[in-house]
Amino acid sequence: MTYLEIDDLVKQFGDLTAVDDVSFTVEEGEFVTVVGPSGCGKTTTLRMIAGLEDPTAGTIRIRGDDITSLPAYERDIGVVFQDYALFPHKTVFENIAFGLKMRGASEAEQEAAVEEMLRIINLEGYEDQYPHECSGGEQQRVAVARALAFDPDLVLMDEPLSNLDKKLRQSMRTELKRIQRETGVTTIYVTHNQTEALSMGDNIAVLNDGRLEQFGDPKAAYQDPDTPFVADFLGQSSQVSGTFRHNGSGPEVVSDGGTTIDVTPKDDVTDGDDVEVFLRNELLSLVDGESNGANVFEGEVRNVDYQGSDVNYFVSVPSLGTTVMVSATTGMQQTTFSEGTSVELAIDPADVIYTHP
Ligand SMILES: Nc1ncnc2c1ncn2[C@@H]1O[C@H](COP(=O)(O)OP(=O)(O)OP(=O)(O)O)[C@@H](O)[C@H]1O
Ligand SMILES: [Mg+2]
Repeated sequence: MTYLEIDDLVKQFGDLTAVDDVSFTVEEGEFVTVVGPSGCGKTTTLRMIAGLEDPTAGTIRIRGDDITSLPAYERDIGVVFQDYALFPHKTVFENIAFGLKMRGASEAEQEAAVEEMLRIINLEGYEDQYPHECSGGEQQRVAVARALAFDPDLVLMDEPLSNLDKKLRQSMRTELKRIQRETGVTTIYVTHNQTEALSMGDNIAVLNDGRLEQFGDPKAAYQDPDTPFVADFLGQSSQVSGTFRHNGSGPEVVSDGGTTIDVTPKDDVTDGDDVEVFLRNELLSLVDGESNGANVFEGEVRNVDYQGSDVNYFVSVPSLGTTVMVSATTGMQQTTFSEGTSVELAIDPADVIYTHP
C-alpha cells in the first residue's frame, strides 16, 4: 500500500523557490534516498514532511490522509537531523527514551524499548553514558535509536553520517540498512553522497535546484538517466553534445565536431534530436595497439592520477573535442600508461549514455 504521497510540493522563502513542485510516493517499508547538491532543497523537503516547515503549496498524505497541516507532534515520524544533536545533559537511556516519554509511555515500556534499541544498534551497556562519553559513530547510532525507539511509522534521516570518516561511514551505512530491515520502518534518507544514495535506496530521488529530476530505481537512474543533470551528478563522465540519427548500420550520435559515436536505440529519441552524450569513466577502456571494434577514438594521455585501487587517466581526444577521464583498476597485471603515450579509447555502444538536453 502506498504509505506516503507527496503531491506538487512547493516551498518559497521570499523570492527563492527552495522546493519546486516535487511529487513522489513511498511504499510501506521502503528505503528512499534523496540526493542532490548543496542547497537543492533536500532538508526543506524533509522538514515539510516532518511538519517543521509549512509548505507554500502542495499536499502530503500518509495512507491517504492529508496531513499537510497536521502539527509535527501529531505526526508519527522519527527524525535524525543533519547535525544529529543529542541532548548533552541526558544519558544514552534518556536520549533514546525521549520520544516515548513525550508520548506518555510507562517506565517499564521505556526500559523495554531502550533495551531493544541498544541491542539493535550494538550498544548494550551504554545506558548511563553521556553523549560526550561516546564516540562520534556511537552518538550517531544513539541518534538513530532515538528516532526509532517510539516505533514511528516513518523515519526521516538528514545526512546522518555526515560527520564520520570514510571507514566508519561505510560500516554505519551497512548498519543502518540492517536496522531498517530489522525494524521494517519506512525511511527517507537524505545525502549528498551519490554512492550512498545508489547503494542504500530501494528508490532514489534526485533533486536539483528545488526540482525532482528523477525518481525511481537507482540502477535505472545510473544507467538510463532521464536528464543530463542526473547523468552528470551520478557517477563521473565526460560529456559530448551531438545529434542523433540512424545510418545503415544502426543508431549513432554525430558530435558537434563531426565524430560519430555508435549507441543503442532509445524509445524517446528520434532522428534529428539534439542529445547530450555521457561517457562514464569506468566504462571507457584504453588500448595501446590497433583495435577494430566500434567507438574507438585516438588520444594522448595527458595526466595520470594514481589513487591506490584505481588510476585515472586524462586523455585528450581531438575527435571528440575534449579531454576524457578514464578510470581503470590498478594491479600488477594491468598495463599502465604514462603521460605522453598515444592511446586508443574504446567504449561499447551499449554503455554510451545519452539524453535529451
Ligand atoms: N529558513 C530559510 N529561510 C530562507 N531560505 C532558506 C531557509 N531554509 C533554507 N533556505 C534556502 O533554501 C534552499 C534549500 O535549502 P536546503 O536546506 O533545503 O538545502 P539542502 O539540499 O538540504 O542543502 P545541504 O546539502 O547543503 O544541506 C537554499 O538555497 C537555502 O538557502
Ligand atoms: Mg540539508
